Amino acid sequence: MILEKHDDLKLDLESMPENLKPLALVTQQFMETRNIYKAAIKEISTKLEILDDEFSVKHDYNPIHHIESRVKSIQSIFAKMEKKGLDMTIAGVNALTDIAGIRVICNYKDDVYTIAKLLAAQDDIELIREKDYITDPKPSGYRSLHIVVLVPVFLSEGCKRVPVEIQIRTIAMDTWASLEHELKYKRKQKLSEKDELQLLRCAEAMAEVDRRMQEIHKELK
Ligand code: GTP
Ligand code: MG
Repeated sequence: MILEKHDDLKLDLESMPENLKPLALVTQQFMETRNIYKAAIKEISTKLEILDDEFSVKHDYNPIHHIESRVKSIQSIFAKMEKKGLDMTIAGVNALTDIAGIRVICNYKDDVYTIAKLLAAQDDIELIREKDYITDPKPSGYRSLHIVVLVPVFLSEGCKRVPVEIQIRTIAMDTWASLEHELKYKRKQKLSEKDELQLLRCAEAMAEVDRRMQEIHKELK
């Protein structure tokens, strides 16, 4: 059993200053529905683990290296709603499709597409968006396959189809993304053009490593 400390869901709205009440209300409403996003993450994670186990039994091979997940924090939700010009209401929150987020780190590039295809093909899963930043890397050099799916979550009041953003990439792509994120976003000032170019070259070098590792893997299979 997992024992988890729950955030305090009840805010004392009455005694709050008027100007803070609308945001406090949305925060409380979100905290009360956060478990639905957590449930959606559990559903998708289980599906991914089942696929990985099946590969292990059938082919003596695991396409998934590891899985990470998170429910977006309320601060990040508000920041994104502001960026997108969404209403600061619970409807605005629910319009975001990356509140539940899963990152799947695969061994090889082919595994990325295999996992995405097998997951999206499942009867209860609906693929609503796909961005292939592996075929078309971002100008920064970022590579990853992003899909958004709707997954059913069964609650006492019925079934809810919940969006989950899934980022699927190789170990090499993930290494680059983690380090680039740490270099870029954790510091106050922007990176110089020279540093940006260096990072882009590193991304290309990582892609070349992926290509070669995939070749060796194919040969040895
Ligand atoms: P957002 O408003 O950021 O969600 O934009 P979007 O909806 O166009 O999403 P996008 O497909 O660009 O993916 C956003 C997510 O991908 C980010 O939250 C990061 O996790 C990741 N990402 C996108 N670009 C980069 C990048 O250049 N570097 C790193 N490290 N991560 C990136
Ligand atoms: Mg997004």
